[in-house]
Amino acid sequence: MQATIAVLSGDGIGPEVVSHATRLLAAIAEKRGHQFRFVHGLIGGIAIDETGDPLPPETVAICEDADAILLGAVGGPKWSDPTATVQPERGLLGLRQHFGLFANLRPVKTYPALAAQAPLRADLLQDIDILFVRELVSGIYFGERQEQGAGDVSYDTMTYTSAQVEQVANVAFRAAQGRRGKLCSVDKANVLASMRLWRRTVVALHEEYADVELEHLLVDAATMHLLTRPGSFDVIVAGNMFGDILSDEASVLAGSLGMLPSASLRADNFGLYEPVHGTAPDIAGRGIANPIGMFLSAALLLRYSLRLDDEASAIEAAVDAALADGLRTADIASADETPVSTDEFAAAVLARIETS
Ligand code: IPM
Ligand code: MN
Repeated sequence: MQATIAVLSGDGIGPEVVSHATRLLAAIAEKRGHQFRFVHGLIGGIAIDETGDPLPPETVAICEDADAILLGAVGGPKWSDPTATVQPERGLLGLRQHFGLFANLRPVKTYPALAAQAPLRADLLQDIDILFVRELVSGIYFGERQEQGAGDVSYDTMTYTSAQVEQVANVAFRAAQGRRGKLCSVDKANVLASMRLWRRTVVALHEEYADVELEHLLVDAATMHLLTRPGSFDVIVAGNMFGDILSDEASVLAGSLGMLPSASLRADNFGLYEPVHGTAPDIAGRGIANPIGMFLSAALLLRYSLRLDDEASAIEAAVDAALADGLRTADIASADETPVSTDEFAAAVLARIETS
């Protein structure tokens, strides 16, 4: 097949991990007889530096002409002055909103090879396979807000309509049907009106998915249950901010934030694929970043936007094999293991793709 992939490397470790991911995609294409065209665009801090805009119109145009977007990460200390009028993060939020990417899928699974380093007891980490479905284009991230300005008040508002909840809950219910048939909906219905609407909407929709077992958790309790009974969760659906927080928490289960991929989708196959981790300014430029979250995001791109399931599985299997063979970047190496660099880990994955 032929496909155009918009590549937005962004800031910090973004370019380091993205360049390896495009090399991996090119190798898969070569091996399986596909033609992938990569078109690069600016986003985030580097886009502010070069154009004054974290999401330049040319970048939006590149993405509009593409079949999918591959993104590194945005932000960093250079642009984090709270009095700045424009933040790099606006570029990413603008992209999600512009393309209406309402369903953010964040799969979390544990790797037996990494269980020893996880801060949780090994018996709790058995068989963890959770899919977070985070609402991504509404809620408090996009509600009416007031910056402080000259006054002494500022606010953000959390708004949800039942249609917004329904569209993301539909994705979550369907995902549960294709997995182990369980959905946990997270809210704060005991306090917030928007979250009471969230719960009522999910309960009403459940009638169309009678085969799915539904539970509700308040977000504060959910943070606890994620650590005390992580293996009991299948699909977890949450609003924009709660999903953001819970998915970072859940990354601990996988051993490192560097392991987690994400897909942000709308109703057709179009999507944006990015690792859950950020720009990691503390290690940027040192060649030691973990590229796994990025590689697994590239696999999700193949699976969801290009419908190349075998090719996606080939990347996942190559990552698994590299881990099983003992390769570890610094973030997932235990005290007695010698970490490999980003280049070395990426080369190991590439080699396993080429011989697969
Ligand atoms: C994420 C990030 C973003 C978010 C930031 C960078 C705007 O934390 O993708 O989880 O809060 O959504
Ligand atoms: Mn986040």
